[in-house]
Amino acid sequence: MSPAVDGEMTDPSRESIGKISSNFNGHWLQGYVRGKLRNDPVYAKSAAIIAAFPAPVLDIGCGPGLLAHYLNACCIQVPYRGLDADKRKIDSARAAATGLANVCFEQADCLPLPNWQGHVTMLDVLHYLDAEKQTLLLRAAISRIAPGASLTIRTVIRDRSWRFLVTRVEEAVIRGSRWIPGGVKHYPRIGELMRPLEDAGLVAETLPMFGHTPFNSHMIRATRLQAS
Ligand SMILES: C[S@@+](CC[C@H](N)C(=O)[O-])C[C@H]1O[C@@H](n2cnc3c(N)ncnc32)[C@H](O)[C@@H]1O
Repeated sequence: MSPAVDGEMTDPSRESIGKISSNFNGHWLQGYVRGKLRNDPVYAKSAAIIAAFPAPVLDIGCGPGLLAHYLNACCIQVPYRGLDADKRKIDSARAAATGLANVCFEQADCLPLPNWQGHVTMLDVLHYLDAEKQTLLLRAAISRIAPGASLTIRTVIRDRSWRFLVTRVEEAVIRGSRWIPGGVKHYPRIGELMRPLEDAGLVAETLPMFGHTPFNSHMIRATRLQAS
């Protein structure tokens, strides 16, 4: 089985990213949004996956909703639903997304997941859950992937690299800042993620997704092939 192919799309201009950031409240958050959308490759890659097979997107741990804005800026018009446990993030996401069609945000824990069929994304969320919850969430997410659609995960991977060591230091700082309540619970090894995906018959691939950072972030893209 061959890996899925990315869809064609044009990246948003610096100007449109500037406009997106101005929808958020406060200088700090605006700078964060601008920096993430300009420099973090995860949004362009996720958007290309969705552009290849337009279908509704469930964004688990959506934070302030950056993926919704990125998709809109790329003219990828699909229903989007973002879930996040943190009320402050959902409030920011809602306040900034008033101009976006077909987008909704909900304050909710990632388990249980709502009924869904389409794409599922989990960008930088999984390692904030303990190992047991990761297993349950992965299983729930897999069952919501429609034929042709993908589960897109970015997470820190536990391995022997220097990047993993640097990431552990960074997460300790984040925990101190209280940006993510609770902090990291479990860094998965790559096999913990790939095995259930492959056992479920999805075609899965991994790729480095650290951009210009020193962190050990990887993307896992798992596609449910359509019956031919
Ligand atoms: C690093 S942020 C990533 C935000 C977003 N995915 C992005 O890429 O911009 C991780 C998010 O996961 C959320 N999160 C952590 N544990 C969660 C849980 N159990 N259920 C739902 N969201 C959770 C946090 O509140 C936070 O907004």
